[in-house]
Amino acid sequence: MQKDNWTSPPDSLELESHYVDVWRIALDLSSDSIKLIESTLSADETQKAARFHFPADRDRFIAAHGSLRAILGRYLRCKPVELTFSVNSYGKPALLNSNLEFNLSHSGDFAMVAVTLDRKIGVDIERIRPDMELENIASRNFSEIEVSELMGLPPEQRGIGFFNCWTRKEAYIKAQGLGLSLPLESFDVSLTPGQPAILRATRPDPQESARWTLRPLDVAPNYAGALAVEGIDLDFRFWDWNLAVHI
Ligand SMILES: CC(C)(COP(=O)(O)OP(=O)(O)OC[C@H]1O[C@@H](n2cnc3c(N)ncnc32)[C@H](O)[C@@H]1OP(=O)(O)O)[C@@H](O)C(=O)NCCC(=O)NCCS
Repeated sequence: MQKDNWTSPPDSLELESHYVDVWRIALDLSSDSIKLIESTLSADETQKAARFHFPADRDRFIAAHGSLRAILGRYLRCKPVELTFSVNSYGKPALLNSNLEFNLSHSGDFAMVAVTLDRKIGVDIERIRPDMELENIASRNFSEIEVSELMGLPPEQRGIGFFNCWTRKEAYIKAQGLGLSLPLESFDVSLTPGQPAILRATRPDPQESARWTLRPLDVAPNYAGALAVEGIDLDFRFWDWNLAVHI
């Protein structure tokens, strides 16, 4: 299986139309870094951060959204604090007045940001929890073909297969930006560990599936991740974001 080559980004970044940049963000930051990055958030983001019950969750939210601002600011050559976001009626955030498309996902100690130009894009990462009732959750959320592929795996591969399916479905839903108004049974993804990530079928429009690239992401041990992006023959770049170095 292809491994993602996470590297440190150059100071100046240009995006071309066939590029897809994926940023891996470590969220476990010092309190000094959290204070620094918190000052770049909007009032709305600061209010959302304040709603978390546990300080560690609050800090991870600040680290994720502050890093998102710093990363997008690099492409737009502006300060993180100057960015303005809108959200569509399903909650998907977008940049105002820009053709830069992005999506954010966070789980546990990591966040992932995917960035491209003029294409729908979605990313999902999940910390793998071994104690989940996979079969029950799969039967409620996966399509018939996905459930049968999952149940056909040897039991020791079902955990990874489950999270492959979950993150691929979620990445596609997030890319479309329609929330769960796009029914989970209206498309099928591949899930077998070690096999390519494929959007196998879309309903009611069968042509839609050929217009998309689905890609697994190597986040870290015990994490699953996936990216869904409109288009094919794309160039992926993998950047490691380290706030202490890059802000
Ligand atoms: C809202 C949703 C994006 C939550 O996803 P999640 O896996 O809990 O969270 P993630 O960390 O991946 O993504 C959250 C980020 O996505 C972005 N986002 C929010 N709504 C979004 C939407 N409708 N579409 C795309 N991105 C969205 C935001 O940046 C958000 O960050 P924030 O919560 O810090 O503001 C949504 O897809 C959802 O609720 N899904 C239901 C879960 C489900 O049933 N999945 C089935 C998979 S088989």
